[in-house]
Amino acid sequence: MSGKALNIGDQFPNFTAETSEGRIDFYDWMQDSWAILFSHPADFTPVCTTELSRVAALIPEFQKRGVKPIALSCDPVESHKGWIEDIKSFGKLSSFDYPIIADDKRELALKFNMLDKDEINAEGIPLTCRAVFVVDDKKKLRLSILYPATTGRNFDEILRVIDSLQLTQTKSVATPADWKQGGKCMVLPTVKAEDVPKLFPDGIETIELPSGKSYLRITPQP
Ligand code: BEZ
Repeated sequence: MSGKALNIGDQFPNFTAETSEGRIDFYDWMQDSWAILFSHPADFTPVCTTELSRVAALIPEFQKRGVKPIALSCDPVESHKGWIEDIKSFGKLSSFDYPIIADDKRELALKFNMLDKDEINAEGIPLTCRAVFVVDDKKKLRLSILYPATTGRNFDEILRVIDSLQLTQTKSVATPADWKQGGKCMVLPTVKAEDVPKLFPDGIETIELPSGKSYLRITPQP
């Protein structure tokens, strides 16, 4: 039985878990930070090793954004601890500074719908897929992505989305396709024309379109 699917904006449920850094209460561990909770199919597998190494190398980037990473798989703590040495060696890392949850009973994998029915272990039990949850400082789910086991994630893209989420929660903009930090943004469709000068004192550019509608309004990143 799997849990109720979480939607963007839902309160992300608290949980306790064993990790490579000891037992945690998720909310206490987050404190006032954001979190990225990401699962992987199994320890000692190649793609997962590249992913966890990449996240470890990106810790300063997550810290800049006030985001704490935490990984999860269905392997036990001792396995995680052994594998961390491989990850450090592969990534030429002097330390590995985030916890890996040991969900060997698959309680969290079920609760958060992380199991991949196409990825079965030697005992015939499903493994976790490559799920990503971004949870904000109010413990709300802000992003959810599922990748298959055979596709490693692009963590620059995850950072890009976090930048967009953090920008757009305080400014009246949305970020367009392939936007990167500092790039042009779109004025929110909900902003009325009469409010534009107050919200965007440096002016905006409105693109003319065949429809004659003025919805494509571009602004430098506020
Ligand atoms: C990997 O991490 O390389 C992997 C894990 C499970 C299935 C396929 C690939």
